[in-house]
Amino acid sequence: MFGLHYLCTLESLILMEEVTYQGLTFEPYIKRDDIAARVQSLAAEIKRDYEGMAPLFLCVLNGSFIFAADLFRACDLHDAEITFVRFKSYEGMSSTGQVKQVMGLTEDLTGRDVLIVEDIIDSGVTATQLREELDKHNPKSVKMVSLLFKPEALKIGSAPEYVGFEIPNKFILGYGLDLDGLARNLPDIYVLKKD
Ligand code: IMP
Ligand code: MG
Repeated sequence: MFGLHYLCTLESLILMEEVTYQGLTFEPYIKRDDIAARVQSLAAEIKRDYEGMAPLFLCVLNGSFIFAADLFRACDLHDAEITFVRFKSYEGMSSTGQVKQVMGLTEDLTGRDVLIVEDIIDSGVTATQLREELDKHNPKSVKMVSLLFKPEALKIGSAPEYVGFEIPNKFILGYGLDLDGLARNLPDIYVLKKD
């Protein structure tokens, strides 16, 4: 059993296997070893900047939970804490369309150094709304780390302070990122394949 499993894993790495979800084909894009290496170097940068401080990592569910778990451990900051928020979306009555509300923010952020942990910054709408919401809670500082950033897709706000990978404006999944809830458990990141 172990031998078969090992061969399959090795084969998938060598052959760069495609995956299919909801009739769409995705091809390997960022492999697990490259993700792990980038997480380590991001963590080293964050550890240097927050050394001697007691930052509060704010993981934005659901997409960021795998990245946040890896990054939080890799940062190895003695006094760091982590907490989790999510956006509740609902259709607004106004012409602006979707209205979002931050759920689960129970910590007192007054005077805290907050580090938002995001999976991906696309239009920048989520990040901007979150930063505006956090500012109401009088934190000492707010920075953001995002594993992925699509500069071409950005419509509002600015680039995160820490970025893992800048990528083109293409749909990706895996390592926490989903397609309608699926594919979060893929250890590698995949990109939608052109026909
Ligand atoms: P925003 O457009 O920057 O507000 O991004 C909103 C959310 O869309 C992100 O936090 C992700 O959950 C999701 N998202 C954006 N781009 C992708 C993608 O390429 N794959 C999967 N989810 C994405
Ligand atoms: Mg997200």
